[in-house]
Amino acid sequence: MDACSRVWTGLGLTAVALTSVACSSAPEPYMGSPTRGQMIAHFDLAVELRDHAVQGELQSFRATAQALADLDPARELPPDIILQLGPMRWEAQAGASARTNGAAARAAAEIARTCGECHAANDVSLDSRFTGGVPAAASDIPRHMAGLARITELLWEGLVGPSDRSWAAGADALLEAGALPDEMLEELPERDVRFASDRLQRLAREAAAATESDYRVRALAEIWATCSECHAIAR
Ligand code: HEC
Ligand code: HEC
Repeated sequence: MDACSRVWTGLGLTAVALTSVACSSAPEPYMGSPTRGQMIAHFDLAVELRDHAVQGELQSFRATAQALADLDPARELPPDIILQLGPMRWEAQAGASARTNGAAARAAAEIARTCGECHAANDVSLDSRFTGGVPAAASDIPRHMAGLARITELLWEGLVGPSDRSWAAGADALLEAGALPDEMLEELPERDVRFASDRLQRLAREAAAATESDYRVRALAEIWATCSECHAIAR
């Protein structure tokens, strides 16, 4: 890595102007509006946050939420967009003090909602960027888990887009995924597996019926809490 790209990595997207002066021969880190660059930074943190919420990694979740709350808006951003970042940073700050996996799941879903609300307010829709598609349900644990991870990604995209299509695809896929594999009973107490399995199916029905963002946020938060509570036991 050369000196220019090190500056770039260290300072993040706010360093665009600086790096392009200092290293005018280097390729531009991104093409497009400052808003777009800012989005890419948020996007990475929000994806990381989502994965920590699923795995029940509370310490990492809190640190990532703090990083999102602290992310300085690129100076080139239009002032009205900077103002609109408020709700997202506020929810991220709440996530940074989450004390339980349930609270982390809730904060992650609330943050996703603020992404979608700003996109809707600015007539930006990410709907067409989402590809959909879920692997077929599998009875072995790693593949079943990969399917569940993809399903909750679709639901998250439903909030972030916002995208009714992704939301519906995620809710349907969770219904279709059915019960957790019996193979899990070899590793975990039967009571925990059955409880989580029934809860996910109930939440799939609630998600499928949810048309308003309040209900969607609540359903996704509970789904993620079901994932992370079991992962915390399994570790
Ligand atoms: C303050 C308003 C606002 C918030 C909050 C916001 N976005 Fe955006 N987002 C935008 C706007 C405006 C664009 C269009 C940018 C452009 O193309 O110039 C955009 C574009 C995007 C894009 C497409 C970028 C590209 O490559 O074209 C992604 C992905 C994205 N947002 C993800 C997110 C995620 C994830 C969150 C929440 C963590 C989020 N956004 C929160 C306003 C917002
Ligand atoms: C009843 C327990 C249980 C529930 C509920 C559960 N998981 Fe898992 N999950 C596991 C176990 C056990 C593993 C470890 C599997 C292995 O590595 O063999 C795992 C592993 C994973 C992995 C792989 C992690 C890695 O280290 O690569 C992902 C991704 C995952 N789960 C996603 C989910 C999602 C998303 C949900 C919720 C929709 C969920 N899981 C619900 C028990 C559960």
